[in-house]
Amino acid sequence: MPLNISLSSLFYLIPLYLLVINPLLRQILPSDPQHGSYRFDDDEDDVADGDTLLNLNPDVLSLDDGTPVTCPDDDYRVHILSHAPLVIYIENFLSGEEADALVDASIPNYIPSALFSSSVKNDTTPNIDTTRRLSDQALLPRTQTVRCIEARARSFQGWKPNLYIERMWAQRYNVSGHYTHHYDWVGTAKGHGGDRISTFMVYLKAECKGGGTNFPLLRKPRDKKWCAFIECGDDEGQTEKREGVTFKPIKGNAVFWENLRPDGSGWPETWHAAFPVEEGEKVGLNIWSWYQPPKWRRR
Ligand SMILES: *[C@@H]1O[C@H](CO)[C@@H](O)[C@H](O)[C@H]1NC(C)=O
Ligand SMILES: *[C@@H]1O[C@H](CO)[C@@H](O)[C@H](O)[C@H]1NC(C)=O
Repeated sequence: MPLNISLSSLFYLIPLYLLVINPLLRQILPSDPQHGSYRFDDDEDDVADGDTLLNLNPDVLSLDDGTPVTCPDDDYRVHILSHAPLVIYIENFLSGEEADALVDASIPNYIPSALFSSSVKNDTTPNIDTTRRLSDQALLPRTQTVRCIEARARSFQGWKPNLYIERMWAQRYNVSGHYTHHYDWVGTAKGHGGDRISTFMVYLKAECKGGGTNFPLLRKPRDKKWCAFIECGDDEGQTEKREGVTFKPIKGNAVFWENLRPDGSGWPETWHAAFPVEEGEKVGLNIWSWYQPPKWRRR
């Protein structure tokens, strides 16, 4: 009996230590003696007043400007592909009408796509290399449809504090348009500089052959039901076996993934590419979420 009691109390003490005592100690004891004691603040009100805080750029981020929006109910279905990193396939994330409206809104705004360098940094020189990325991109005006999709993307992610939906861009791929393997994150979050925490890759127009979104480091799910959304190698005309997971472009559907581990470092498994379009035209929508905590401050 005494053994039993001490064992069972140990059983309770361990989680008590891990969940209560250790975090309390960490709050009380500064982890970095050089900088004293810090508090991490998720309160959005503080973003507006502190002049030590980062200036959020409305040209880059879809900030709340008080414009009222009325949105249709969500009407999508989700399938988890991977937990670590989190990768979720979303059927019907956009309705056909929404996808068409975004394609129409994009048409007057196309410019050649540049390679991604942290868009929040003040980097004004576009880096264009058509061997690595060949497509056109268009900044989408914040119409009611766009604002509803912003709201949907925030809701999907649990209205995470300090998460900002970047201004949305449509990407148009003609025949031979592609984007070689790359990451969407830059690795700046660990220094509290902010980074792209997640990506939604939405297909707005998929009247094409080829043009799949490939993740060579993700493991292909085994169930054949996935073949509706990913290439299974037995598709007509496709002979080569491709590594990892290749999502087929399907209008209105989306792939969501988290780019960052909880400690702010990037997931290597999010390495991905847009395979070349072989026939027709593909238009994609990138919804990137930027995570930007207010600067850590002295108490
Ligand atoms: C961005 O850089 C340009 C040129 O280097 C400079 O004129 C401008 O003031 C900078 N903007 C910000 C917000 O730092
Ligand atoms: C794609 O096609 C459109 C329309 O034909 C054209 O204006 C655009 O320059 C093309 N873009 C690329 C990258 O080839």
